Amino acid sequence: MDVLEQLAELKVRALGELADIDDARELESWRVCYLGKKSRLTAVLRNLGELPLSEKKSVGAGANRLRVELESNLEQKKRALREAKLASSVQKEGLDISLPGYPFPVGRLHPVTQTIHKINDIFTSMGFQVVEGPEVEWDYYNFEALNIPEEHPARDTMATLWIDYEKDSNQRQMLLRTHTSPMQIRFMEKVRPPLRIVVPGKVYRYEATDATHIPMFHQIEGLAVDEGITMADLKGTLYEFSRRFFGKDRKVRFRCDYFPFVEPGVEMAIECAVCKGEGCRLCGSSGWIEILGAGMVHPEVLRRVGIDPEVYTGFAFGMGIERIPMLRYGIDDIRLFYSSDLRFLRQF
Ligand code: PHE
Repeated sequence: MDVLEQLAELKVRALGELADIDDARELESWRVCYLGKKSRLTAVLRNLGELPLSEKKSVGAGANRLRVELESNLEQKKRALREAKLASSVQKEGLDISLPGYPFPVGRLHPVTQTIHKINDIFTSMGFQVVEGPEVEWDYYNFEALNIPEEHPARDTMATLWIDYEKDSNQRQMLLRTHTSPMQIRFMEKVRPPLRIVVPGKVYRYEATDATHIPMFHQIEGLAVDEGITMADLKGTLYEFSRRFFGKDRKVRFRCDYFPFVEPGVEMAIECAVCKGEGCRLCGSSGWIEILGAGMVHPEVLRRVGIDPEVYTGFAFGMGIERIPMLRYGIDDIRLFYSSDLRFLRQF
């Protein structure tokens, strides 16, 4: 029998056996037997060189054709086995995997949370630590320790939600914190300088709700205390923050402001993104948008927590969070953040 006849016989045998196979293991032994390294077909192809020239061409072509045919039959069989398995599991388990799946929506972080994370990242990269404090607070931390005693007019600027109507036997009263500054005191009571913290969180004010006011909003406080800290550190840190958050081309402006717990006190504004300083509706035609209050920590505040203001100095700042995405995305009503309307929230 010459080689071509052998191949023809091989084909009949291979395809005959293949037709009877009905599981993957058998199929693999079939592949090894007819297409594997030690198969007859591979041997024929490998030894083509030894054939006389007259046979080489026809045997080579025939063997290759057979290999292609066996391979394509193998693939077909594999597919058929897979489909049969699927069909039987549909029958057995009543499972039809060709049905569309249940929708499984992936959540996302609230735009305010996203903003807080971004701000945290910038300050942590400058060596600040992120800490949080209680939202229900004593008036001592929210006011007294920050140089805002009971009769101080600064209390009027922060309409307070009191938890206690009256002072307790220790002359204390509880409230919902009106700013994140009380954590300055709490942290300095526990940790000696050098210290650098940012404190993001919710704050509360007793205010009528409108497009720019809600009784609960977010702030992020910053505090750095060490030997030799100056106003230059305050400005440098906040410039760097602005560059990283708003981009390097935004101008930054500092002006004098008053907060009882800093001296001197400043407010920081950034150039309006919409009009680039020209003046427009968004910035109230001033060209600037105020984003935070800041200043050098008042020596009396340091003294109160037992830090010697002759040795240590520090700076602090407090920034409103909601304003930032509002300015950035042109959101004109703060209430949208908390109305739980997914059509709004899904955009961020
Ligand atoms: N706590 C101040 C406010 O809510 C902001 C502030 C913080 C100002 C720190 C100076 C220093 O208005």
